[in-house]
Amino acid sequence: MDTFVIHGGSPFSGSVQIAGAKNAALPILAASILGGGPVSLANVPEVSDVRSMLELLSGLGAEVGELRNGRLALSTQGVTRSETAYDIVRRMRASFLVLAPLVARFGQARISRPGGCAIGTRPVDLHLEALRKLGADVAFEAGEIDVTAPQGLTGARIVFPTPSVGATHTALMAAASAKGESEIVNCAREPEIADTAAFLSAMGATIEGAGTHKILVQGTNAWRPARHTILPDRIEAASYMVAAGLTGGRVEVIGGRLEHLGAACHLLEAAGLSIFPSDRGLIAERTGALHSVDVTTEAFPGFPTDLQAQFMTLMCLADGASVIREGIFEQRFMHVPELQRMGADITLSGSAATVRGVPRLQGTQVMATDLRASMSLVLAGLVAEGETVVHRVYHLDRGYEDIQGKLTRCGARIERVRQ
Ligand code: UD1
Repeated sequence: MDTFVIHGGSPFSGSVQIAGAKNAALPILAASILGGGPVSLANVPEVSDVRSMLELLSGLGAEVGELRNGRLALSTQGVTRSETAYDIVRRMRASFLVLAPLVARFGQARISRPGGCAIGTRPVDLHLEALRKLGADVAFEAGEIDVTAPQGLTGARIVFPTPSVGATHTALMAAASAKGESEIVNCAREPEIADTAAFLSAMGATIEGAGTHKILVQGTNAWRPARHTILPDRIEAASYMVAAGLTGGRVEVIGGRLEHLGAACHLLEAAGLSIFPSDRGLIAERTGALHSVDVTTEAFPGFPTDLQAQFMTLMCLADGASVIREGIFEQRFMHVPELQRMGADITLSGSAATVRGVPRLQGTQVMATDLRASMSLVLAGLVAEGETVVHRVYHLDRGYEDIQGKLTRCGARIERVRQ
């Protein structure tokens, strides 16, 4: 397992080209099953989660071209299987996103029940409830989920008790191929939902309201070949903005968009960053002190849970104390003991962490168990005294394209040690 060896202390300054959003690419790749024809995508992030999804699609019978410079051509015409191997579902929870398109296209599908993961239990009840509402039957058998809809899916009103990104994608993809009209209420509003809706529309669905609380979908079975460019990754962009904030640097995130940052924009500014648009994206810089800010993670446009760990690293060096509450995944604090090992002053109590700023962090050996937690440790390494060794870099490879290259080009001293 590779490690990153980081020597902290250099300001993070320069330009970073932001990749396409992993969390849009994954549902869009899954949605390509619906059309059963050729699809041409641009700005596909070259990250290992995308490769896992492509492996999954190939395993189902899709013809997948080479992913190069963000461009990818594939055809799901040859998809004949509707059973997904446990091995890939276990590796990547987002594999579950193929369930709805498989049921819609074949009238039945079988998928392994995803287990727990490092950030909590993460149930799939809302996905299954949405499919039931659209007329599917759901049965459980020895770790597998069987979903059947032999007569096809039928449009319905789906009201989510709480907004879920994944379940909204499932509902959207299923409704897009159901007979008649569907209404999806209290759905997630993340920009990636609107991007999946744009892709489904390019393939022939009629969708209104994606990105708001209520989506109206007119189902179709007249799918057509589609082209789509994936929207930029807002979490990647914000992570590099945090890097500039931590080190007192200045970064231009090319492709970054203010409207995708939601509450993260004013909270980063409250912490001491200046953020403003440039011709190519956004610029973030810090010239003054870092200030403590209280943060609660929420569904979009609230502060994203996927930025919580990185923001905590920022707060480790701010003046005063900040309370960081996790409102989405209550156990998402695996980075806390590792940051403590680097000298951070953090007290955990339930789903809240109190972070008291310290003058400096100290480099040491650290390891995290998920993607964003690993990024928070890399960020800590950029500003820590001495050498930080981040183990299990494969977590970062899941979602940050060319992370080492992007960090190095902005002045970070980071080396990948292959093992
Ligand atoms: C997606 C993102 C992930 C991000 C998360 C929250 C992808 C591939 N992943 O994950 O990076 O951290 O959104 O922004 O897009 N829930 C249920 N039942 C369900 C589904 C979810 O109770 O059937 C709960 C979850 O436990 C959680 C909350 O709903 O508390 C939100 O989770 P959700 O938005 O579904 O996250 P994911 O789609 O898994």
